[in-house]
Amino acid sequence: MVTTSLKILTHPYQSVKNDGQDVIQGLTQNPKSLPPKYFYDDHGSELFEQICELPEYYPTRTEAWILSQYADEIAEITGACELVELGSGSSTKTLFLLDAYQKIASLCRYVPIDVSGGILKASVLKLQEKYPSFSIEGLVGTYEQALAKLESTSSPSRMIFFLGSSMGNFASQDSEDLLRRISQTLNPGDYFLLGIDLQKPEDILSAAYNDSQGVTAAFNLNMLSHLNWRFQGNFDPSFFTHQAIYNQADAQIEMYLHCHKSHWVSLEILDFKIFFEAGEKILTEISRKFDLAIMQKDLEKQGLKTLKIWTDPKQWFGLILCQA
Ligand code: AVJ
Repeated sequence: MVTTSLKILTHPYQSVKNDGQDVIQGLTQNPKSLPPKYFYDDHGSELFEQICELPEYYPTRTEAWILSQYADEIAEITGACELVELGSGSSTKTLFLLDAYQKIASLCRYVPIDVSGGILKASVLKLQEKYPSFSIEGLVGTYEQALAKLESTSSPSRMIFFLGSSMGNFASQDSEDLLRRISQTLNPGDYFLLGIDLQKPEDILSAAYNDSQGVTAAFNLNMLSHLNWRFQGNFDPSFFTHQAIYNQADAQIEMYLHCHKSHWVSLEILDFKIFFEAGEKILTEISRKFDLAIMQKDLEKQGLKTLKIWTDPKQWFGLILCQA
């Protein structure tokens, strides 16, 4: 039987025990940082959708091109019954995969996962109209929450996929942990499809995170507004400016909110107060740029064997299909 559902693993509007401890943890560190998942309240997800359309932001359209070319091949190799997407957002690029699997009629279930309930609900409703032949089960939650849930449900043939180079948000050790967790939710023979942004000249990278229309700046600053409503905070976004630099040595973009006024900020729901110096920066995101050969080894270490790699003609973005 084909069904549609939206399960909320933790309700984003209700204060759950432990919710926000990562905010306290990040802001009490020196230098201060905040987890990138707080970009994605509903407004932040909309801003991210706008980023994907920017002329300077090449990753989305490059990955979409690769998927448009090779989705049929991916479907044929895997013949998966269940597709699980980490950080699905609006699922726009996923349509290439869903169409390909539809053609071979192997699919029983698509499970999109996102922290942003608004965008997930809208996309689940849209998808169920377009694809009446398989179930769609949206999960609102973090990767960690979703993987814990998936581990306890079995599937005849599963492919987890993680697109858009969101893996780049994880520092080396954290990405190793995440890959291990992903591997644990797969049975031998199951598949994992990973999209990663590749190393390229600095000017191209820098432009992609400092767009001329200021959408990336708005996206970065929106994190403070999100924290304000979520934790009853009093961040004044006008005291901060967006900054994105390419750290060549670590091959990663670093996004900061640069504070230009000394002031106190409180987050009532967390019972937390913190002082900001003028000139201080909050690290809100790292976006690592990868090397395909190194990634292949990292995957292998977690028991994920590479079957095939696809890229675009400029080799700006890579898609790796592996098997557990
Ligand atoms: C969704 C994490 C892959 O790192 O390029 C876009 C987020 N940040 N512009 C990225 C982002 C600024 C994006 N990821």
